Order: sequence, then structure tokens, then C-alpha cells
Amino acid sequence: MTTNATGALKLVGESYPFVPGGQYLLTFDNHNSVNGIREFAHGKGASFAYVPIEPPDLRVDEELLLCSLDQARPEHPHLFAYPAQSNVTGVQHPLDWIQEAHARGWDVFVDCAAFVPTNRLDLSRWHPDFVALSFYKIFGYPTGVGCLLARKAALAKLRRPWYAGGTITFGSVMAAMDAGAGFYLKPDEEGFEDGTLNYLMLPAVEIGLKHIERIGIEMIHERVRCLTGWLLENLLALRHSNGHPVVRIYGPITTERRGGTIAFNFYDPDGILLDCYAAQEEATRCALSVRSGCFCNPGVREIAFGFAEEDLAECFKDKQRMTYDQFLQVMDGRKQGALRISVGLVTNFADVYRFLQFAQAFVDKMASKTYL
Ligand SMILES: Cc1ncc(COP(=O)(O)O)c(C=O)c1O
Repeated sequence: MTTNATGALKLVGESYPFVPGGQYLLTFDNHNSVNGIREFAHGKGASFAYVPIEPPDLRVDEELLLCSLDQARPEHPHLFAYPAQSNVTGVQHPLDWIQEAHARGWDVFVDCAAFVPTNRLDLSRWHPDFVALSFYKIFGYPTGVGCLLARKAALAKLRRPWYAGGTITFGSVMAAMDAGAGFYLKPDEEGFEDGTLNYLMLPAVEIGLKHIERIGIEMIHERVRCLTGWLLENLLALRHSNGHPVVRIYGPITTERRGGTIAFNFYDPDGILLDCYAAQEEATRCALSVRSGCFCNPGVREIAFGFAEEDLAECFKDKQRMTYDQFLQVMDGRKQGALRISVGLVTNFADVYRFLQFAQAFVDKMASKTYL
């Protein structure tokens, strides 16, 4: 048990035996909590590399991925991490990659935080070394509880950078002064659960899992697929009077190999991008929950918007800190984000219909100061 998916990712990141000559490989499409593991890799002298995603669907070119996986040098630990489902585009990256990576000597960490709420993760068929998830994403309550699923052999490879109450069989102060170590970690998962678990929340997890079981994950999956398909079709069909599209979707525009997350922007009749932050505010006024920005996944934004490496390098030159507003200024006022809606367990047809009505209000809306 962890506090969330991020906690699970960090447990592996800080404990993975990265060494010079080893590598951390990841896809451009990743949540920042997966991107952040590169700091652990870098800190221990391992290299890291990114496999790009490609417009318009923002999927990975598999040939490129296999080439990257082929680079593994078996004498050093190599970790490959990717999301089973993108938290931005809804793209479902193939679980077959687990086997491909294993065959080339990689350990595999699959971030399933966005995948498991509406898809079955069959661990009798797929054998990732590590899986991260947060329970609130599956059934809404409680927050603050997630888990790391790990194969026993993979867990045994990890080296914890510290120990804490709850993780050791016993420890000694005197022995540490003398001999250095002075503690014995508990075996298996117990050696990874620091301090007191959020045990009062655990009954809610059991209730949540039973709730999902009662409905059936296949039913949830199919319902989400239908509602997502309806939304995709109807959003794409929206046209201004001059025939130009109202919405541009980032990622796949059919329900094939994708989940219920849709990232998009509104455009005016002249093809001018409307400010996503203003649109989000309007959605909030209409009691619609729409997110804007880059959703903790900068790789997708950089590819979807065609950012240049030099522009981004500029953001990190000679600076201690940078606020998001300063970042927008450096990027020269170009629109930096998208809107995102997600279909899930509790979404019904009235919800998606209402959102479409909201989107229809953008037909023939000119970019004005409010929206630029
Ligand atoms: C794909 C993915 N990975 C990781 C996370 C991090 O989850 P948490 O904030 O619950 O730790 C998220 C959160 O949105 C996510 O969508």
C-alpha cells in the first residue's frame, strides 16, 4: 500500500539499482511522477532516454521503441516505464511491450493509474515487474491510498535508500555506530511500507473494489467506450458556418485502442486557437468539470504543439526558478495547453450530452480578447 500512484512510482525510482552503464527508458507520453524517476537514474550515474510519440494519434512508433529496447546492456539494470493509458490523450499503449522489453533484458514499470479505472488489467496474462495505481481514480473514495504491485523477484532487486518504523525486523543504535548498518529490513512488501499505514481508509478500498466487482469492469469499459465514441463523433462534427471545425482533438479520434480521456482545444471560424484557460472558466461557470493545461504530462504537450527544443532549453537556462506565467511569456504567448474531459464510472449520457451543448456554444464564436 502507498499513499497514491506517485508514492508507488517513487518507491521504485528511489530504490531501483541504477548504475553507470544502466538506463532508464521512458515514453514521451508519461505523467511527471514517471518522468521524475529520471532524477534518481541521473543521480546514480545511469543514463535516461525518451521514445517519442507521433502526431496525429500521439502513439509511439513501435519500430523506434524496439530499437531503443535493443540498446540494453545485460550486465547493468535497465528500467523501462510507460503508461498503459495516457492521462492526456487516452491512448492505450500496448501491454505486449512488457514481453518485448523482458526479452531484451529490461525491467518494466507500467503506470496503470489511468488504465485500471475502466479496463481490466489481467496480471495472469501480462507480467510487468511493477505497476502503480491510485484507488480514488477507480472508485472516487478514499483519496490518499494507492498501491505498488510488484513481482517478488523484481522487489528483491530494489535497494531501499533508508529504513523507517514499520519496515525493519529490528534495528540498533549502538551497532550502527560500530558496524555501520544496524538494521534488518523486513522481507518483501513489508520492507517498503514506511510508518503507519492509512489503515482507517482500508475498509473503503475493500468496499470500492467490491462495488466495481458488482458492476463488472467489462460493463464499465463498454459503457465508457460507447460514451467516448459518441462524444468524439459529435465533437468532431461541430462546424462553424464557414465549415471550419470548432474542435481539434489531440490523440486518437476513434475508440480503437484508447480510453475515455479526450484532450482538445476550441478554434474560432478563422482557425484561431481559443484560450483553454478562459474556456475552462466558462465550463466551471456552467458546472462542468473540465481541466486545462498540460495535465502533468509535458511530453504530450511538447509534441502535440510542436514545441522546439531550443524554446524549452531557454526556459531552463540560467534560472533558479520559473513560474508558469513566466514560462508562458518565454514561450511568447503561444497557447500552451489544452482542455481535457474524461468519461468514467459515474458518467451517464446526460453528462456527455450536456458537455456537447456547452461545446455547441463555441460555434461561430470569434476569438475575442476573452478567448485569446
Ligand atoms: C497516468 C497517471 N500516472 C500517475 C498519476 C499520479 O497519480 P497520483 O496523483 O494519484 O499519485 C496520474 C494522476 O493523474 C496519472 O493519470
